[in-house]
Amino acid sequence: MSKSAIDTIMEKSVIPSFSSLGSSIRSRLFNWQTLSSYSLTGKVVVITGATSGIGEAGARHYAQLGATLVIVARSAEKVEALTAKLQKETGNNQVFSVIADLGDQDEVRKAAAELALRWPVINVLVHNAGALFNKRKRAANGTDLSVELMVATPFLLTGLLLRNLEAAAQQQDESTGMTPAAARVLTMSSGGMYTQPLKVDALQMSEESYQGAQQYALAKRAQVILNQMWATRVPADKVVFHALHPGWVSTPGITEALPGFSRILGPLGLLRSADMGADTMVWLSADEQAMNSSGKFWHDRQARNIDMSNNTRNADTPTKRQALWQWCEKHTNWSFTP
Ligand SMILES: NC(=O)c1ccc[n+]([C@@H]2O[C@H](COP(=O)([O-])OP(=O)(O)OC[C@H]3O[C@@H](n4cnc5c(N)ncnc54)[C@H](OP(=O)(O)O)[C@@H]3O)[C@@H](O)[C@H]2O)c1
Repeated sequence: MSKSAIDTIMEKSVIPSFSSLGSSIRSRLFNWQTLSSYSLTGKVVVITGATSGIGEAGARHYAQLGATLVIVARSAEKVEALTAKLQKETGNNQVFSVIADLGDQDEVRKAAAELALRWPVINVLVHNAGALFNKRKRAANGTDLSVELMVATPFLLTGLLLRNLEAAAQQQDESTGMTPAAARVLTMSSGGMYTQPLKVDALQMSEESYQGAQQYALAKRAQVILNQMWATRVPADKVVFHALHPGWVSTPGITEALPGFSRILGPLGLLRSADMGADTMVWLSADEQAMNSSGKFWHDRQARNIDMSNNTRNADTPTKRQALWQWCEKHTNWSFTP
């Protein structure tokens, strides 16, 4: 049986793919290049949600690979402790922070203005912050917090930083001295999005029908669709866009959101470590393969289908996609101009 046939069978049977088995088997099967062999020297990487779990593991790799690392976080105390820790552990002094609650559009705008001013060229922007709220939470503007944090905020932040990202393609690549490279925008979605179709009118569940896992999956589905839509709007020689899912990862976030799930899978060794969960994110930030396409959805270093059922496939229409984009533009008061 070929390696890709084994990979496909794993993907279709979910547990071997999403669990720690997925990354252990695939890393050996495809002889993954170690992350430590890449360099991000001379690259500016901006990441959200790095004060915990997958993002923190990713941030450590970025610092180790020599990136100028900018962590956008809501807690000044947490992020100061983290930047000091990363600088000490990796010897990289180019680790910075910008403070923003990403559930608050005013703070997102302020953070974007600060980022744009301090780092005129941004090479990698990683939208990793996210959470599953079993009990509904609302953003500062009253929107469902899952939708604000994981749909509206990444849209607005990408939009407000677009010129800084596009500037990367004009910058000489210091690490190789070769031609300038397009920037990369990465969005951390979830395999949970396979369970929900694209919805725009009902993107925010009603109060009566609210279920945290379903609301989370709706937002994660929207992220994957928007990733594809950005890729059709922005030329890939300027910016490439990729979404990904990390599998099932042992993090404070999953323990809080899905305690039963963690209690069962954890002792069986089926949850991934945070490092495993961050692998494809860091790999997409550094490997040349990410530059060969735009708008893809990745898991374990392979582009994947965004649908596993006709339910989600049939619901994904050009009209609904357009409506989602328009919702984002109206909601954030930011419009795309090529
Ligand atoms: N763990 C999994 O199995 C899994 C599976 C699929 C997808 N994911 C996705 O992976 C990403 C990381 O998740 P994780 O498991 O590593 O979770 P985590 O440990 O809870 O980390 C979440 C991060 O997001 C930040 N964040 C949350 N709300 C924020 C807000 N309003 N403003 C600014 N930052 C905020 C958190 O900041 P604080 O430290 O201040 O709370 C933290 O840094 C999320 O997008 C999640 O949906 C995870």
